[in-house]
Amino acid sequence: MKPVLIAPSLLSCDFANLEKEIAAVTKSGADWLHVDVMDGHFVNNITIGPPVVKSIKRVSQIPLDVHLMIEKPEKYVDAFLEAGSDVLTIHVESTSDVKGVLQKIKSSGKKAGLTMRPKTSATEVLPYLDMLDLVLVMTVEPGFGGQKFMEDQLPKIRFLNQEITKRSLNIHIEVDGGINAETAHQCRAQGANVFVAGNYVFGGDYKKNIQSLRVP
Ligand code: DX5
Ligand code: ZN
Repeated sequence: MKPVLIAPSLLSCDFANLEKEIAAVTKSGADWLHVDVMDGHFVNNITIGPPVVKSIKRVSQIPLDVHLMIEKPEKYVDAFLEAGSDVLTIHVESTSDVKGVLQKIKSSGKKAGLTMRPKTSATEVLPYLDMLDLVLVMTVEPGFGGQKFMEDQLPKIRFLNQEITKRSLNIHIEVDGGINAETAHQCRAQGANVFVAGNYVFGGDYKKNIQSLRVP
């Protein structure tokens, strides 16, 4: 199993103090910064676009893990790559050209990720597995922080881990939504190694909370 990485989701931080928040979670042991991009179409919420990602990149010492919850990612993928995404993840449901978008990300030298809504079967991502650096299992319906972890997504992590092992691929398995010390343990047991957490990290002592997510 790959080593654990912790990616605090900036969605739960104080946006009026973005630079301070980034410095604080970085000092507290974050490995990546998770950046949630929402367009008001693919999900019922609107967050940030390429200019803010670019500003985050300017003040961040650690990689940006950008999660695109937008329709037609093919229109914006260049902008998010240029803005400084290090890992760029798209939704399998968001475009009719998943392969083309992933190829674009790969050819830029950045890491390509693919994810799915909780209701989407994990088999939907299998045709693209060979192209991926990361597969993200959503453990809440995308759109908002602070939702309850969906235990029924655990078998998806296990299934993808088995498939990745069977094909001897080197792919991160990331989980996002309702992650805390307890649910991180549950996901780790099924093979996840990257833990996104918004409310849990920013809702208390950053260092203590990040440490508690570092499941052996
Ligand atoms: C939800 C986002 C998550 C969100 C997680 O659509 O993808 O990254 O910030 O928030 P928590 O950890 O609070 O569930
Ligand atoms: Zn996310």
